[in-house]
Amino acid sequence: MDGWYTWAKTALFSLDAEQAHDMTMHVLRAVCGMPSVVQAWEKRTHRQWEAERALLQTHVCGIAWEHPLGLAAGLDKNARCLPAWRAMGFACTEIGTVTPLPQIGNDKPRLVRVVEQQALINRMGFNNAGAREVARTLFVTPKHPRKPVFINIGKNKATPNEEATNDYVLALRALYALGDAFVINVSSPNTPGLRDLQQAHTIRALLEAIIEERELQHAALGIDAPQKPLLVKISPDLTDHDLADTIDAIRSVAIDGIVATNTTNARDPGSALEAGGLSGAPLRERSRAVIRDVYQATRGMCPIVGCGGISDADDAYAAIQAGACALQLYTALIYQGPSVVSRIVCGLAERLRADGCTSVRQAIGVAAM
Ligand SMILES: Cc1cc2nc3c(=O)[nH]c(=O)nc-3n(C[C@H](O)[C@H](O)[C@H](O)COP(=O)(O)O)c2cc1C
Repeated sequence: MDGWYTWAKTALFSLDAEQAHDMTMHVLRAVCGMPSVVQAWEKRTHRQWEAERALLQTHVCGIAWEHPLGLAAGLDKNARCLPAWRAMGFACTEIGTVTPLPQIGNDKPRLVRVVEQQALINRMGFNNAGAREVARTLFVTPKHPRKPVFINIGKNKATPNEEATNDYVLALRALYALGDAFVINVSSPNTPGLRDLQQAHTIRALLEAIIEERELQHAALGIDAPQKPLLVKISPDLTDHDLADTIDAIRSVAIDGIVATNTTNARDPGSALEAGGLSGAPLRERSRAVIRDVYQATRGMCPIVGCGGISDADDAYAAIQAGACALQLYTALIYQGPSVVSRIVCGLAERLRADGCTSVRQAIGVAAM
C-alpha cells in the first residue's frame, strides 16, 4: 500500500463508509478540475507498465483495453470523476448503475466495511442522478482516446418488473451516444425483484427489446461503425441450473458479452454479517467459478469481464485463466488504495511472461477446460 494511503485510510476508515466515499469523491472531483495535475498523475502511473503495452492489451467485444483491469460499476455512478480513474491507471471505467429517473436509493446506513474479511456490504439501491443528468456530465467530460467508458444501466425502484423493459430502453436511449459499451444490470441484490429479470423466461424478451433500441439509436447516430456492444451483468447466486439457462437465453439473442459477477447475498454458515450485497475477498472463489462456468458453457465464444474479489495479481491471473478476457474491481481499491492498479497490472505482466505468453489472449481460459 502507498505510504500516503496508509494514513489517508486511517482517516477515511474512522468515518462512516459512505461519508468516506462521498468525501473521497469530492476530493477526486476537485483534482479532475486540474487537467495538468491529472495528466502528470496519469503519466506517472502508466510509466510503470509502458514497456509491456503489447503484452497487456486485451479486447472486450472488439473494444481495446490497454490492459485487462477496469473499475467496476457502483463507485462512480454519475461519471463525475472519469479523469481520476484514468489517471489511477484503470483501462476502462464502468459508470452507473444509471436509471432513467434520478433516485435517492435506500435508507442510510447502507454501506458497511467488514475489515477482517477485506469486504464490503452494500444496499445502496441504485442511488444515482438519473440518465439525463449523467448524459449531461458525460457530454462535457473530454473523451480519452484509449480508455473506454462502459455504462451500466438499470431500472428505477418504483418501476414494476412488468414495465422494467421500458426503463432499460429509456436509459439506453439517453446514453447511447456517450458510452462505448453498455452493461445491462439484472443482478444487483438491492432493488427488489431485479434478479428475477435474470430468469431465462424473462431475460430473453428484455434483451430483445434492448437490442432493438440499440439498432434504432445506432441508425440515428448515423456513424459508420459497428453497433456498441451490450453485455449482461450476472449474479454469483444463480444455481448451476439457472445459470446454464440464463447463459443459453443470453446467447440466443446475440448479446455481446457477460460481466461476472455482481455482489453476493450468500453468507458463510453461522455468519453474523448483515443484509446486502457482499463484495471483496469472500466473493472471489464464487465469482471465479461463475467465470469458468460461463466460459465452458459458451466454449470460450462469449467475452467475459471477470469481477468479484480480485485483490492482487494472482487473483487477476486466475480469473483470466478461468476465462475472463478483462477484469474489474471495486472493494480492493477501498482497502489498498490506487496503487492496487499498478501492482495488479505489473504483476499480471510478470505472470504472463513467466508462462511464456506473448499476449493476454493466450492465457484466457487455460484453466477452464
Ligand atoms: C458500494 C457498492 C456499490 C455498488 N453498486 C453497483 C451498481 O450500482 N451496479 C452494479 O452493477 N454493481 C455495483 N456494485 C458491484 C460491483 O460493481 C462489483 O460487481 C462487486 O463489488 C464485486 O467486485 P469487488 O469484489 O471487486 O468489489 C457495487 C459494489 C459496491 C461495493
